[in-house]
Amino acid sequence: MPEATADDFKAAMSRLAAGVTLITAHDPEDGPAGEDVGMTATAFMSVSLDPLLVLVSLRAESRMEEVLSRQPCWAASILSESQRHIAGRFAMRGRISDRLLFEDISYYRGAHSGAPVVSGSLAAVECRTEQRVPAGDHVLVIGRVLSVRTHSPEGAPLTYFRGRYRRLGS
Ligand SMILES: Cc1cc2nc3c(=O)[nH]c(=O)nc-3n(C[C@H](O)[C@H](O)[C@H](O)COP(=O)(O)O)c2cc1C
Repeated sequence: MPEATADDFKAAMSRLAAGVTLITAHDPEDGPAGEDVGMTATAFMSVSLDPLLVLVSLRAESRMEEVLSRQPCWAASILSESQRHIAGRFAMRGRISDRLLFEDISYYRGAHSGAPVVSGSLAAVECRTEQRVPAGDHVLVIGRVLSVRTHSPEGAPLTYFRGRYRRLGS
């Protein structure tokens, strides 16, 4: 097999259809009232049933990785197809301040993490980081699950495939 370039790799991996999550945390050290941070992520998966573990792969230079290096608890909201605008907003780099990012979004605070959990998302998981594994230009953050909530039994997922948000089956 020929050596792969980053573009070949991206083109191939873009064919792996993925669900879209919003990873969130409350960073108590940022400002007097603390700051909420969020990042759109498709590299989120379940890892283990005993104990319950999940994993998210974060770009090492991202704001979220910086926050999770000092804040152990975080949340992942599994977005529904009607929440595409949330995914788009939290994938932007440095366009609007973190506080404004959450301004018109309906959320509640996770009891364990204090992180914003998106209301109307399909489901949400709160966890505490158990292991951080550097992996190239990313860090694999493995979290012990503290709580799970399923919100919308009938809801359809937001998916990402070949560089675009999709509805399942479209
Ligand atoms: C659909 C989609 C999925 C993404 N998944 C991830 C991911 O799993 N891990 C990651 O580190 N960045 C991912 N990103 C990029 C981040 O959302 C983006 O870099 C981040 O929000 C910008 O913040 P930063 O400037 O601190 O990196 C994804 C972007 C999009 C549009």
